[in-house]
Amino acid sequence: MIPAPWALLAEVTHACPLHCPYCSNPLELVRKSAELSAADWARVFGEAAELGVVQAHVSGGEPLLRPDLAEIVAAAHRAGVYTQLVTSGVGLSAERLGELLDAGLNSVQLSLQDARRPGSDLIAGRVSYDDKERAAKVIRDAGVPFGLNVVLHRRNLDNLQEIIEVGANWGADRIELANTQFYGWALRNRAALLPTRDQLDRAKATVAAWRDGHGDRPELVWVMPDYYEGVPKPCMGGWGARSVTVGPDGTALPCPAAYAVPDLAPPNVRERSLAWIWAESPAFNAYRGTDWMTGPCRECPRREIDFGGCRCQAHALTGDAARTDPACSLSPDHHLIRTAAESADEGTVAVPLVYRRPGAVDSTDGSSRVSG
Ligand code: SF4
Ligand code: FES
Repeated sequence: MIPAPWALLAEVTHACPLHCPYCSNPLELVRKSAELSAADWARVFGEAAELGVVQAHVSGGEPLLRPDLAEIVAAAHRAGVYTQLVTSGVGLSAERLGELLDAGLNSVQLSLQDARRPGSDLIAGRVSYDDKERAAKVIRDAGVPFGLNVVLHRRNLDNLQEIIEVGANWGADRIELANTQFYGWALRNRAALLPTRDQLDRAKATVAAWRDGHGDRPELVWVMPDYYEGVPKPCMGGWGARSVTVGPDGTALPCPAAYAVPDLAPPNVRERSLAWIWAESPAFNAYRGTDWMTGPCRECPRREIDFGGCRCQAHALTGDAARTDPACSLSPDHHLIRTAAESADEGTVAVPLVYRRPGAVDSTDGSSRVSG
């Protein structure tokens, strides 16, 4: 008996006004013409609710770029699923938020790239800080639960105290401090974004001091970095254990980065029910549980705690998703992580960012590369 998933990540579009160099979308972005319709999403939310899903993160790209977003949110609401809008804030007016709340939206998560305008706009790849500040006011004025998400890396970790203060001033209930996970776009930008051990130690001390002084106002969530700990993260709570990602074209995956794992033959909600996808599809069963494990994981007492770490990171770094996550100090591939971390500790040269844009990684003219 496979336990039900509780969360659905609904990536309703890959279109986005921002170009963050750590974007969790795949390197190959889905075209608008291939996106699921609102009626398709209504069916997906209905099937998800039947399966046991209680929460949907309506994400992208930038979901506000879907003119029919209220219709999509209303369908999730009708299915009885709690919905959170995950947004850059660009385009979030009071009218638009009102329309989404009327449709049944339950909470909003706004992204912020850095504490101040220049740093935030540099990482976003366009002027957007003021839009975010305005969006924060709109969310706060509406009285809806408000989370701020900040991806942390080499270029903003030293501003953490100020980032938390901005979040508190903007009225966030919760600030998710998400240390960059290095696959996809972020792996492409690893040399520019990987922090030093000292930066992370200082950041942890900042979080501890804030919690001591302010309790949970706002609540700080520290998403563990894994390049310096020697301990892998229990990625997604285990493969096919808690959550389903459905991409803009209906591709269903156990996590948003799994597009890059070869030979998965990911199923599509246009062709299969979510119940079949969850329980029967080879893609969701490929690394579920512990039977697939090889190497040190097979005998390890932590195998039901961290599930061998992250399959996407194992594939990205070793070419084999079935290997132990190189973040683990017991992995025979751990040197791949150690060497990168040592270079980050030594590195002083500013490395250009490769921004998330269609074709950016294959660009030969350098037009998508901007030095920061
Ligand atoms: Fe986790 Fe595998 Fe490392 Fe053990 S060997 S700690 S199960 S990744
Ligand atoms: Fe895919 Fe970790 S990001 S399993």
